[in-house]
Amino acid sequence: MSKLIELEDICVIYPVHGQAPKTVLAGLHLDIQRGEFIAVCGQTGCGKSTMLRLILGAEAPTSGRVLIEGEVLPRPDRNRGYVPQKYSLFPDKTVLDNITFGPEMEEFNILGRLTPRFFKRRTELRETAHALLQQMGLDPSDAHKYPDQLSGGMQQRVAIAQALIMRPKILLMDEAFSALDPTTRSGMQRLLRTLWAETGTTILFVTHNLNEALYLGTRVVVLGKQNSQGSSRVIADLSVPADARTDDGQLRRDVLDRLIHQVEQAGEPQLAEAYS
Ligand SMILES: Nc1ncnc2c1ncn2[C@@H]1O[C@H](COP(=O)(O)OP(=O)(O)OP(=O)(O)O)[C@@H](O)[C@H]1O
Ligand SMILES: [Mg+2]
Repeated sequence: MSKLIELEDICVIYPVHGQAPKTVLAGLHLDIQRGEFIAVCGQTGCGKSTMLRLILGAEAPTSGRVLIEGEVLPRPDRNRGYVPQKYSLFPDKTVLDNITFGPEMEEFNILGRLTPRFFKRRTELRETAHALLQQMGLDPSDAHKYPDQLSGGMQQRVAIAQALIMRPKILLMDEAFSALDPTTRSGMQRLLRTLWAETGTTILFVTHNLNEALYLGTRVVVLGKQNSQGSSRVIADLSVPADARTDDGQLRRDVLDRLIHQVEQAGEPQLAEAYS
């Protein structure tokens, strides 16, 4: 494994209208190796989404550096897929066109979209999009619906398919399963672990749910406050041993208890209390 993402002494300060600026992250360090599956937890407002946007390149830190394979990349690119907390689909495009839009725009300029090569590629992308929809438990007939004809959970799955079709090296998911009912959610969790194992994609997955974090992650990173000023950094960084999982992917009870205890010790009893 080699270092893929480095967060070096990150500080993020936001201006607040009519008030003193707000320091959200300070002294944040994190090294991520290729192929890791990092679940990011922490209380609301601690800066989880901010951290993902920094890694995406959609936002720059006030100080410190975000390195991707050793480089500062100040803009999003196709190697970094993103499922935002508040995603939005194109309302005037069908499900299928929403999914294939990203790679079509990326791979072809306006003139290129008039060539036979484009139409061949479009057919391939549509096949891939259909396969993704099927993997996510959507009906083939949903492919031709428009977003306002879908439930929130179905829209969320289309947003995930939009990111996956780009086959990014790094996949950033911000509470991507939060709108799903429990059965769909556990199906999506299994699917994501399978995709991760098959593709070797490095994943950062933000969740409020420690259960989900411990099921999904090879590592659980907890962000939390470090001082009275209320800025956050990494307060717990736990490896989830692969050999501690049963055949269905669940963690052994003794390992789970140890990890929960570590989260509590780090000062996040609220995250851990669902288990007590
Ligand atoms: N562009 C911005 N301008 C000003 N303040 C911001 C901006 N983005 C985020 N913040 C503030 O930074 C803090 C962290 O926000 P962030 O969205 O990263 O938290 P979070 O951990 O993702 O929370 P949640 O769990 O509720 O999604 C919050 O106090 C938020 O109000
Ligand atoms: Mg957030």
